[in-house]
Amino acid sequence: MKRKSILALLACAMLTMAACSNGGGNGKSGEGEGEPKIGVAIYKFDDTFMTGVRNAMSVAASGKSALDIVDSQNAQPTQNEKIDLFISKKYNSMIVNPVDRTAAGVIIDKAKKADIPVVFLNREPLAEDMNKWDKVYYVGAKAEESGTISGQLLVDYWKANPGADKNGDGKLQYVMLQGEPGHQDAELRSKFSVQALQDAGIEVDALAVDTAMWDRVKGQEKMQAFLAQFGDKIEAVLANNDDMALGAIEALKAAGYFTGDKFIPVIGVDATAPAIQALQDGTLLGTVLNDAKNQGAAAVAIAEALAKGETPTKDNTGFDISDGKYVWISYKKITKDNIAEAQ
Ligand code: GAL
Ligand code: CA
Repeated sequence: MKRKSILALLACAMLTMAACSNGGGNGKSGEGEGEPKIGVAIYKFDDTFMTGVRNAMSVAASGKSALDIVDSQNAQPTQNEKIDLFISKKYNSMIVNPVDRTAAGVIIDKAKKADIPVVFLNREPLAEDMNKWDKVYYVGAKAEESGTISGQLLVDYWKANPGADKNGDGKLQYVMLQGEPGHQDAELRSKFSVQALQDAGIEVDALAVDTAMWDRVKGQEKMQAFLAQFGDKIEAVLANNDDMALGAIEALKAAGYFTGDKFIPVIGVDATAPAIQALQDGTLLGTVLNDAKNQGAAAVAIAEALAKGETPTKDNTGFDISDGKYVWISYKKITKDNIAEAQ
């Protein structure tokens, strides 16, 4: 009898322990008991750079908070539904990568009403919306900085290679592939890349400027069209992101570039893994590190502090906060010579 009950007790203790170790957080986001719950709405999963940010967020949250990461499928109404769901589940805070950054105002109104703090990411809401509530933050990078750096990459090439002026007219004939219209990164990268060329005393001629919506396939199609129209008159390609630059490189390869001495400088932004490969291959001339790791980590750190009812500071997040609500992660020039700095 005694032996039996001891065995029973032991079995019971083992069961309890097993239950404990299941519930005790195994590092997978979304499974920790008692961890703050954070709803994360990404504008679309099918975006190379944002996939990097998404992965960085999961790593940063591991063992600390439970992230519920959802795909807004590039539709603002879908994103609004997801946010309503986060609110009805009474999550402790939210991270939103808006589909349409002008929709932030409506999102903030809802969040404020439910008293659920919100951290915007990668698509910067208008200042007037950011000022609607004190529990609203933004994590991103200064778009103009990436524009300036991408222009400087081309300045460096132009100055080092007199043959870059293929028609010898003293001007740089370029084509530009832009991101989504209205996106601060598309507008400002376009503007400041050209500005950097002009500031360096280079006269420029825009042969063609068109959007390829951050997309590799669209980048390839647009570049094909540019080549059909302008052919070898094009002396450089400026792309607002790496995916479009890589699409352009495909079109250029099909037109015989990057074999023998047929070369054209192509510049991107992001420093994604395939772009680093292209730098190594010598097809992509340069890119700008858009630091997915730190943007993801900062968004999670701010959302975690807010979820616990704390005011985010450098002390509780590890990140500098400007103007009480902005975290700016810096960009970095990346070429074949400093690839290691992009990892
Ligand atoms: C930019 C990035 C693009 C794209 C976009 C999405 O910062 O450079 O590749 O991911 O964000 O909003
Ligand atoms: Ca020229």
